[in-house]
Amino acid sequence: MIKVKEVILKKLKESTQDYVSGEELSNILGVSRTAVWKCINELKKEGYVIDSSSKKGYKLCYVPDIINSWEIKEGLGTRIIGQNIHCFSEIDSTNNYAKTLAQKGCDDGTVVLAEHQTQGRGRLGRSWDSMGGKGIWMSIVLRPAVGLEDVQIITLAAAVAVVLAFKKVMGIDAGIKWPNDIVLDGKKVCGILTEMSMEMERINFLILGIGINFSHEESEFPEEIRDRATSLGIYLKEKKGMDISRFKRSHLIRAILSELEEVYDMINEGKAGVIVEEWKKYSVTLGKEVVIKYREEQYTGIAQDVDQSGRLIVKQDDGTVREILSGEVSV
Ligand code: BTN
Repeated sequence: MIKVKEVILKKLKESTQDYVSGEELSNILGVSRTAVWKCINELKKEGYVIDSSSKKGYKLCYVPDIINSWEIKEGLGTRIIGQNIHCFSEIDSTNNYAKTLAQKGCDDGTVVLAEHQTQGRGRLGRSWDSMGGKGIWMSIVLRPAVGLEDVQIITLAAAVAVVLAFKKVMGIDAGIKWPNDIVLDGKKVCGILTEMSMEMERINFLILGIGINFSHEESEFPEEIRDRATSLGIYLKEKKGMDISRFKRSHLIRAILSELEEVYDMINEGKAGVIVEEWKKYSVTLGKEVVIKYREEQYTGIAQDVDQSGRLIVKQDDGTVREILSGEVSV
């Protein structure tokens, strides 16, 4: 049934100016007109606005901002990332599901998405608020051909891919706070959680979990993070007077997957240095005084550089230089 729905939608999209008759659809698909009608009703329930006329057939009038694999795959020109996409209306955490798929041997580049996560997870053991229909909650399974020392680079690369996609799709200039928080005017709009499985000192697979606040209003964030969090919608309205409803999440997801494939190719070709240089262009951390918190420890210094392994180089006031691989940074 899913395949039938997909073909009907494709056909309707190809002729948005015109009606497509039920007979034509049933002939193309080799199913009854009742089956076509059932699929049309399902699409309507999902939010597609389709005009039905007993004489002329069906005409697509509006595509909703929903997440399904065929909306994302439409025009996706990647070879690896997003060839398999699993979408859920609700799930505990897309990272958990992606991990299960990876353990069962799913392909490199498999993507998991959900409208709502009931137990979204963030970095450093925190929870990640994942409201239904408001964000992009996505995990990607990667099987990179690199050693453990390059794992951090993959995380930096994912942040670069997201920033490039924001720019391409919405014209938004976002910054990256080390290692991989994407910020707009100092407020977090996207977080990335990388989880890894190792076997004999080798990366078995890596799960890249990306959470993007898309259309939240300020009041929809939990009170305790309201001063630190933002959404693409809030930013677009404030800065460009635009409404987020003119953009579709599926379009942004597609752009992220293509950008990700480009940086992933570079990593697999051993060009980590290029990624680091690209990351530095968008960094809002370098050159600033930073406070680093890691477990019980806290120290301050100037963020001087990021090395080829993605470590942040911080020079403390007493001249000591520290290389930081993990932790929370406040600028
Ligand atoms: C952070 O703390 O900054 C990272 C947040 C990562 C959230 C995403 S949403 C999709 C994926 N599934 C999860 O449970 N977490 C990540």
